[in-house]
Amino acid sequence: MAEDKVYPVDKERAAHSLINIDDYHRLYQQSIDQPDIFWAEQAEKFVGFFEPWSKVFDGEFAKAQVAWFKDAKLNVSWNCIDRHLPQRADQTAIIWEGDEPDSSLHITYRDLHQAVCRMANVLKARGVKKGDRVCIYMPMIPEAAYAMLACTRIGAVHSVVFGGFSPDAIRDRIQDSDCRTVITANQGVRGGKLIPLKHNVDKALEQCPDVHSVIVVKHTEADTGWHAERDVWYHEAISQVDDQCPAEVMDAEDALFILYTSGSTGKPKGVLHSTAGYLLQAAMSHKYIFDYHEGEVFWCTADVGWVTGHSYILYGPLCNGATTLMFEGVPTYPDASRFWQVIDKHHVNIFYTAPTALRALMSLGDEPVKSSSRASLRLLGSVGEPINPEAWEWYHKVVGEERCPIVDTWWQTETGSTMISPMAGVTDLKPGSATLPFFGVKPELLDAHGKVIQGAGKGNLVITQSWPSQIRTVFGDHQRCVDTYFKAYPGYYFTGDSARRDKDGYYWIIGRVDDVINVSGHRLGTAELESALVLHPKVAEAAVVGYPHDIKGNAVYAYVTLMTGIKDSDDLKKELIQFVADEIGAFAKPEIVQFAPGLPKTRSGKIMRRILRKIAANEIDHLGDTTTLAEPSVVDNLIEHRVNR
Ligand code: WT7
Repeated sequence: MAEDKVYPVDKERAAHSLINIDDYHRLYQQSIDQPDIFWAEQAEKFVGFFEPWSKVFDGEFAKAQVAWFKDAKLNVSWNCIDRHLPQRADQTAIIWEGDEPDSSLHITYRDLHQAVCRMANVLKARGVKKGDRVCIYMPMIPEAAYAMLACTRIGAVHSVVFGGFSPDAIRDRIQDSDCRTVITANQGVRGGKLIPLKHNVDKALEQCPDVHSVIVVKHTEADTGWHAERDVWYHEAISQVDDQCPAEVMDAEDALFILYTSGSTGKPKGVLHSTAGYLLQAAMSHKYIFDYHEGEVFWCTADVGWVTGHSYILYGPLCNGATTLMFEGVPTYPDASRFWQVIDKHHVNIFYTAPTALRALMSLGDEPVKSSSRASLRLLGSVGEPINPEAWEWYHKVVGEERCPIVDTWWQTETGSTMISPMAGVTDLKPGSATLPFFGVKPELLDAHGKVIQGAGKGNLVITQSWPSQIRTVFGDHQRCVDTYFKAYPGYYFTGDSARRDKDGYYWIIGRVDDVINVSGHRLGTAELESALVLHPKVAEAAVVGYPHDIKGNAVYAYVTLMTGIKDSDDLKKELIQFVADEIGAFAKPEIVQFAPGLPKTRSGKIMRRILRKIAANEIDHLGDTTTLAEPSVVDNLIEHRVNR
C-alpha cells in the first residue's frame, strides 16, 4: 500500500536543515502547550515591530474573536522591503519571468522600494487612505506586487481578484467590499493569448458608480476604452510623484487584505486577514517548511490572485529577504518544458506547484523534463489539492531525480498559511500524505457525532485552537464567519475537509465534505455555479456536483432542467457552458452538462446530491439509500441518459 511507503530524510541533507525532527517535536509541543511563549519568540525572530505588543493572544476562538500581538505596531511593506535595505539593497527581490521566454527582469530590493513608494504615492494622490479597500485585477507582472505592497504601505486593504474572473464576478467583489479604487492593466498575456483586463473592468464598473479611480498599467501596446475623470495611466501617474513614502504605522490587528473564496452556500465570502499574525506565520512557514536558506531562489507558480500567491510569492518570501520568482505564463507555452527551462534559466532552488499542473505535464511524458538540467533544484512543493501517489512519485523521480524532498502543504484561504505539511529535510515523507501539523496547529478528526477520534482513523478535519494567521472575519458579515467555520462543531474551526490519520500520526487529506468542488486547485461552490446556470433564461433548475477527473482532480458535472417547451441540443449545452464562463470565469466551466427532465429530491424538496454525485462518478451500482426519493423514476432517467466518459 502507498501508505506504507516511506521516504526517510536524507541524513546528509538533514545535517544542513534549519532544524531536525527532535527540534520539531520539542518546538511543536511548546507551541501547543505554551503558545504565548512560543509565538513571542518567533515574532521577535521573523518580524520587525515599531512598538511591542501588550499581550501575545487575546480573545475567544469559538467566537472567531481573536487578536494576536495586541497593541503592537508594524507595517507589512516596511517588513518586506525597508527592513532589508541596509543589507540587501542590491539583492534581487523579485525575478520576473514573462510569458515569452526572452522576457525577464531582476528587481532588487532597492528597485522594489522605489516602485512601491511611487505606487503608494499615486494611491494617496487619488485620495486613498488607511482602511480604504482597493481592488487589484492584474496579470502576473511586477506591478501586481507593487500594487499589493503599496496598499499595505499606506494601510489600504487590498482585494486581489484573480485575472481569470469575469466582469460580473469583479463587480460583485468590488460592490461587496466597497472598493473605490481599482488597479489593473490594459491587457494580460498568458500562453501567447491576450486577456482584456481593462475591458473587463470597464464592464464591471458600469454597475459600480462609487469607483473614482482606475490605475492602468500599460502592459501591451493595445488601446483601451478610457474614462478621463476616472482612469489614469500608471506610467504617467508615477512620473508625477515622489519615490519616498513613509510606511503607515499599523496596528497588529488592522485589516491587511480581503480575498474572496467560495463556500457551500451563497455568494463568495471576503475572507479578511489582519497584519501581524498573518505576516509572521507566512514568513515563518516559508522558512521552516521550505527550509529556505539565504541567497536561494524560491519559485511558487501560483497566481497572486489566490492565497498561495499572497503568502508564498509575496509576503512570506519577501518578509524573509528571499529572492522570489514571479511567472506570467503557463507550463505548456511555448512548449511543455517551460517550467524546467525557467528553473535552469534562473537557477531555481525551491519549486512549489499544484498537482493538476504535474498531472498535465506527466501526461506529456518525461522527455520535456529530461531535456533540462534542473541541477539547481533542491526541493519541491505541492499545494491546492490532494496529490495522488502516482503524481507524487513522478514529481520525485523524474522532476527531482530522487534527490529533492517534496513538501505537500495543506492549507486554505482562511488559514492564511500552511497548516499541515512536512518540513523539508526534517520529516520522513509518505507519497500522498501532508504528514504532520505545523507549529501551533492542533488538528483533530471528528466522527459523525462530533466526537474526537483518538489515534488512527478517519473523520472531519477541525482545528482546536487559534493560530496567528487565521481568518479574522468575513468582510462585512462576522456572523457568517462564525456560522461557516465555528458552528458545525462548537469550539472548533471546521475546515470543510475530511482526512485520515495513520498509525504514525500522519494526516492524509481526503477532500471537501461540503458543497465545494476543487477543480485544478480552484475552489468552486456548487451554489455559485447553480445560481449562474439558473440566470440563463432557458434554465429552470440546475444541480452541480464534482466528479473525479484525471488531470483536474475534480471536474464540474451539471444537471440542468430546462424551462417547459425548450428543446435540448448540443448547441444549448455549449451555450450554457459559455454562460458560466461569462458569469464567473473560464476556469469554472462545467466539463459535462446533462439535461435532466427532473432532479432527484426528497419529499420535502431537497435535492439529493449524494445520488447525483454517484451518477456523475459512474458508480450507479451503489446509489445508497433511495427510499426517501419523492419520485424514484427520476433517477432511472438520469442513469439512462448519463454522459459516459
Ligand atoms: C482547499 C482550500 C492552500 C492554498 C490553495 C487552495 C484543498 C489545499 C491541499 C493539499 C489536499 C488540499 C483542501 C482545502 N487543499 N491544499 N496539500 N492536500 N487538499 O486554497 O482555494 O482556499 O482551497 O484546498 O480541500 O480545504 P483554497
